[in-house]
Amino acid sequence: MRPLCPCRSCCCLLLFLSLGVQGAPEAAPEQVHLSYPDEPGSMTVTWTTWVPTRSEVQFGLQLTGPLPLRAQGTFSPFVDGGVLRRKFYIHRVTLRGLLPGVQYVYRCGSSRGWSRRFRFRALKNGPHWSPRLAVFGDLGADNPKALPRLRRDTQQGMYDAVLHVGDFAYNMDQDNARVGDKFMRLIEPVAASLPYMTCPGNHEERYNFSNYKARFTMPGNTEGLWYSWDLGPAHIISFSTEVYFFLHYGRHLVERQFHWLESDLQKANKNRAARPWIITMGHRPMYCSNADLDDCTWHESKVRKGLRGKFYGLEDLFYKYGVDLQLWAHEHSYERLWPIYNYQVFNGSRETPYTNPRGPVHIITGSAGCEERLTPFSLFPRPWSAVRVKEYGYTRLHILNGTHVHIQQVSDDQDGKIVDDVWVVRPLLGRMMYL
Ligand SMILES: *[C@@H]1O[C@H](CO)[C@@H](O)[C@H](O)[C@H]1NC(C)=O
Ligand SMILES: *[C@@H]1O[C@H](CO)[C@@H](O)[C@H](O)[C@H]1NC(C)=O
Ligand SMILES: *[C@@H]1O[C@H](CO)[C@@H](O)[C@H](O)[C@H]1NC(C)=O
Repeated sequence: MRPLCPCRSCCCLLLFLSLGVQGAPEAAPEQVHLSYPDEPGSMTVTWTTWVPTRSEVQFGLQLTGPLPLRAQGTFSPFVDGGVLRRKFYIHRVTLRGLLPGVQYVYRCGSSRGWSRRFRFRALKNGPHWSPRLAVFGDLGADNPKALPRLRRDTQQGMYDAVLHVGDFAYNMDQDNARVGDKFMRLIEPVAASLPYMTCPGNHEERYNFSNYKARFTMPGNTEGLWYSWDLGPAHIISFSTEVYFFLHYGRHLVERQFHWLESDLQKANKNRAARPWIITMGHRPMYCSNADLDDCTWHESKVRKGLRGKFYGLEDLFYKYGVDLQLWAHEHSYERLWPIYNYQVFNGSRETPYTNPRGPVHIITGSAGCEERLTPFSLFPRPWSAVRVKEYGYTRLHILNGTHVHIQQVSDDQDGKIVDDVWVVRPLLGRMMYL
């Protein structure tokens, strides 16, 4: 074959040009994921590149053909705390003016490299629709049992959003943050199609939670440590239980978060007629009946009773403001509690304990799968423990309307079988406090 170019320098030029068209691999977006910025009609796209490039999202309604809409954003460099000080660039672009419930196609990147095309459905607006969520915690890059089924569910359009209740990758900072990269690539088939909403867990602790804060984009201005958002008939509050345990990063964080929680709960209660459900998510539970020495196995757990058993405890706060449902993880198992306050069971009635419950309902769902495998339960369940499942899986949460919520536990060990199924029913009025 005849050489394409007669001299070495034009060969270089040709090579350069062809790279310019296809894009340098360092400029190609990866680890693409979505989050909802708590602004009706919007969605944020976050991704990573290895060199600084512009941040653009092209989107539209057609699967094929040109993508007519454009949104620009910004990027910020992130330097991991490991010895290699690996540096990468996190891009954030918020799409606005989306039509509620409509499916969009998008790609992200810059002229130096584009992602493949992804699809998502814009969230509906207002309180009068029925959001479906996948909820789980403790999903690792190693042994991510729930992920294949979550992918299939996502492709079938089963959910509107994901709640990942802390503990990612195990750990995102590990191997100079390469484990974080691997994890973010693994979840892309789910997280690039659904808003992937998070809270920090103990495994994010390294370098003051910096991998967590940098990689996710949650609403508010606390780098995802605590925030809240509205979704259909629910107000969802995400917070950090970790501020109670890693005090060396700042004791002031416990107090700041507590005061924020209180004012957010007050606001949510003013709006309660419109959005009756208040749902919290935090990593470490107040109660659990696992056979380990975790905080939740102690009678006066820190999350429940606060620092030194009396400062900034969350059980009283959540009870006082009538929180309906509390989602937790950390224990690698599934446990549902009877409605509870201060170790007392407050069933609505013996026949229908979750109809008009007189205390909050707790769900612990941390069995999505990670290298640490499953956590055993104590031999004898406590009187406040309703259901315990030591199997890999995740939770489906269907917020049907202002009075009815459906909770199901999917078992991956049993090929997707529903191993727990319960409705929580609360009247529209009288939800600001439990009486
Ligand atoms: C850790 O991060 C929080 C905010 O994300 C900050 O307020 C705090 O001062 C940091 N602590 C240290 C020791 O850097
Ligand atoms: C709550 O309801 C469950 C289911 O009917 C029952 O087993 C349990 O004993 C009840 N607890 C109390 C304190 O009434
Ligand atoms: C919610 O849905 C349930 C089941 O369909 C129904 O019985 C109930 O009346 C609905 N509540 C509201 C407030 O629409």
